[in-house]
Amino acid sequence: MGKALDGIRVLDMTHVQSGPTCTQLLAWFGADVIKVERPGTGDVTRHQLRDLPDVDSLYFTMLNSNKRSITLNTKTDKGKEIFTKLIETCDVLIENFAPGALDRMGFAWERIQEINPRIVYASIKGFGPGPYVDCKVYENVSQCTGGSASTTGFDDGPPVVTGAQIGDSGTGLHVALGIVTALFQRQTTGRGQRVVCAMQDAVLNLCRVKLRDQQRLAHGPLKEYPQYPNGVFGNEVPRAGHASGGGQPGHVVKCAHGGPNDYAYVIIQVQGWAPLMKVIGREDLIENPEWATPEARLTKLDDCFALIEGWTVTKDKFEVMEILNDLGVPCGPVLSMKELAEESSLRATGTVAEVDHPERGKYLTVGNPIKLSDSPVEVKASPLLGEHTEEILKEILGFDEGDIAEAREQGAI
Ligand SMILES: CC(C)(COP(=O)(O)OP(=O)(O)OC[C@H]1O[C@@H](n2cnc3c(N)ncnc32)[C@H](O)[C@@H]1OP(=O)(O)O)[C@@H](O)C(=O)NCCC(=O)NCCS
Repeated sequence: MGKALDGIRVLDMTHVQSGPTCTQLLAWFGADVIKVERPGTGDVTRHQLRDLPDVDSLYFTMLNSNKRSITLNTKTDKGKEIFTKLIETCDVLIENFAPGALDRMGFAWERIQEINPRIVYASIKGFGPGPYVDCKVYENVSQCTGGSASTTGFDDGPPVVTGAQIGDSGTGLHVALGIVTALFQRQTTGRGQRVVCAMQDAVLNLCRVKLRDQQRLAHGPLKEYPQYPNGVFGNEVPRAGHASGGGQPGHVVKCAHGGPNDYAYVIIQVQGWAPLMKVIGREDLIENPEWATPEARLTKLDDCFALIEGWTVTKDKFEVMEILNDLGVPCGPVLSMKELAEESSLRATGTVAEVDHPERGKYLTVGNPIKLSDSPVEVKASPLLGEHTEEILKEILGFDEGDIAEAREQGAI
């Protein structure tokens, strides 16, 4: 079966996490992704956080599957010549270097358009135009500058960064959408375009409900927050602890066994109150006007969840999931990475995939979470550094052995 992005060729100048997550998705959707790496070193993550000596790290292998790798020094004359030829033949160019790096190599957007007016040129940066436009940014910096850290954690503690890589992988997702949208528009205009996404902007987009709350704050306290009714609200959205970001109250509750992840998240929908009270043996509160309505409960959400916890603590988190879901109560066990890695349903859908790597052997990765019925995904190993250099030069640029030897002599590949 064909793939959605068959025929699309991506010149991938990305490194670390944000850009590589984007191009890995494009590769899974069928694009031919050519990862350009500096000779000798390659993407810095090949060497970072290694678990095995002399083998590409999981950091690298889990972000770069299904791509081809060409080593190319784009700062040499010969390297620039080859890079120019690759731009001519590609549909997408993407990079996530520090601001200005590609311009300094001589490849500003104007020049890229001159070389190939049909190319879509995407960039990920830490910030958009403004005071910080020239700054380098990593994941947690963007979580702090995009509104996630200030709204995460507990009222009496410092800002907290989340385990979800919303700055890196989150921005990669945004850019992937930008790229396919630009490719779609190209079908009518015949032109490529510039796609830019700043990590601060992507994180803020993911923190949309917190900007909602900032504006609600002007009109009174945020009643679903743990600070209501006894805490103090300032003029900034406070940290919400475990409180649900939506209109239905929710909280983390302890379950049996007492392990670090023996918890579940339980949400009290309006229609969930009666079945919840019944299952925990507090039928007396179902109709009691002090408890029966969401408004009555707002001032005592802590007590509501304490009651529920008195029951969940006697049950395994998976039992809680089963019993409450049977009653139509939204809830979920807190799953550890170990449990997720072993979860058979995630293996069955390919969301957790086992991959065979020529040097490291078998490892687990997160496969494509986006399922297309007509574009099947087969997760393949990440490329070794420069594994496809000669193949790409021959197949795409028509190089012969002599041309390749010359490029090698000049330190370009
Ligand atoms: C992630 C980041 C902080 C890393 O910074 P860094 O390690 O200093 O790396 P840089 O991006 O500055 O790139 C290093 C240099 O390698 C050069 N380089 C990269 N690939 C090359 C190649 N194939 N051939 C020759 N030179 C190459 C770049 O041109 C740059 O050189 P310059 O500084 O002379 O312009 C930075 O790239 C950044 O802010 N990126 C944008 C935001 C982002 O994506 N952050 C999240 C990453 S997960």
